[in-house]
Amino acid sequence: MTSYSKSDDAGTAVLSISPGHKLAKINDNIYGGFTEHMGRCIYGGLYDPGNALSDENGFRKDVIAAMQELRVPVVRYPGGNFTATYHWMDGVGPREARRKRPELAWIGVETNEFGTDEFLKWCEIVGTAPYMCLNFGTGTLDEALAWIEYCNSDRDTYYANLRRRNGRAAPWNVKYWALGNETWGPWQVEQATKEDYAKKAYQWAKAIKLLDPSVELVLCGCEGATSWDYHVLKECVRWSPHGLGGATTASLIDMHSIHLYTSSGEHYENATAPRSAERAIQVAAGLIDLARIENKVPPTVPAPRICFDEWNVWDPLRAPGEEGAEQVYTLSDALAVAAWLNVFVRQAKHVAMANIAQSVNVISPLLTTPDGLVKQPTWWPLLLFSKYMRGHAVPVAVKCAEYAGPTKPDWIRGTIETPWLDVSAAVSDDGWVNLAVVNLHKEQDIDASTDGIVEGKTISWTTVSDTGDELGSSSDGSTTDVLVQEVKHLSSDKLYFRKMSFNLLRWQI
Ligand code: AHR
Repeated sequence: MTSYSKSDDAGTAVLSISPGHKLAKINDNIYGGFTEHMGRCIYGGLYDPGNALSDENGFRKDVIAAMQELRVPVVRYPGGNFTATYHWMDGVGPREARRKRPELAWIGVETNEFGTDEFLKWCEIVGTAPYMCLNFGTGTLDEALAWIEYCNSDRDTYYANLRRRNGRAAPWNVKYWALGNETWGPWQVEQATKEDYAKKAYQWAKAIKLLDPSVELVLCGCEGATSWDYHVLKECVRWSPHGLGGATTASLIDMHSIHLYTSSGEHYENATAPRSAERAIQVAAGLIDLARIENKVPPTVPAPRICFDEWNVWDPLRAPGEEGAEQVYTLSDALAVAAWLNVFVRQAKHVAMANIAQSVNVISPLLTTPDGLVKQPTWWPLLLFSKYMRGHAVPVAVKCAEYAGPTKPDWIRGTIETPWLDVSAAVSDDGWVNLAVVNLHKEQDIDASTDGIVEGKTISWTTVSDTGDELGSSSDGSTTDVLVQEVKHLSSDKLYFRKMSFNLLRWQI
């Protein structure tokens, strides 16, 4: 819902959709992925040499096909926490000469068999854009500049020539670069204070834009609504000094990153938790405006937008990072993931990129086995959104009853509502209205009237729900078996949303 009004009747709702009012372009990059050297994401996930399912590069063909089915537009790499001790030079050149290193984020050994050129080649095969994260822990600015030169330069310089010697003549043209990852976190090697980080990020950004003004830089924010976010934005949201690319048109920082994982064993807390991400986006967007106002950034300089470059349902107790974080997902988690994606569509104006953490095996909708792929319940909302919820976000006003119990985090209550129907709507460039509806109620089916907007239309309707004969009457959402059904539906004015279901409805304007 782009606007919500409360009613007392839990069994009915009113949805008013305005397909003609385009609110904001949905950036395709909200369907981004993330691959980290962690657990079985890289090794045994997208890279599995010797496996019958792998190609001549050692890349799993079934994983590539899944990424292509999802139309993943951008993939973040090589971490995550892993980046804080990663030296990219260890992972380029002849494999037999690459250094094995102790790995300090997830406590293992990094063989460096898979590195920059392998990842960038994989991206080319998938048809996705790479997004690299710089080492703000043990890394140096020199090393970061050398990495960008290696990837992007077409000049006759040392690192560009090294790339050529390593077999790649043309630049890889990596557009997106992150200025570190979660540098605020106590688990981070070389954790920084917000003051130290802001100072360093500003100086690195300046040097990087001098080297390659075509790149887009992502500032390391925290959870959006924190004093870290306020401080680093205030210090770094400035226009390029010294006439970089034209003093009043170039921004030093192009995006502000936020990370958030939600989870609860209790279904209502689990499915309403993504509302905290929505509030965090709104607060961070306000902090960006505040920084621009206080720093007197000219209106000709584009405002940074939000890069939600780690999001998902993750319970680190159920799926510890050091053990590979292979979380088993449930129907409740699938509804939570759909609610997450509704947030990005509703907040399309502010969100330039979002990356599900992660794409394979590690807290992922996809699990590899030696002879195939397992698609978890969370795969289905991700696929349906990425296939259909593109184009422009349009307004949908929702009137229905609200869940009134405890939330996780607590502060959801009092800052944003938690209606039983969580809804977003989009109009695609080829003239389809797409409506995403989560009914998170465990016991109540909901009838919705639509102000006549779907009357006379043939609706293509896909539902994700439980498989039980009794249609989930006693379900708490913990099932890992979901039913995905697609029906053609000749509509009346009424829609019907089954309890504990995700619904993707489509009709032509
Ligand atoms: O995605 C798993 C980890 O979660 C990432 O490495 C880190 O950035 C976050 O804390």
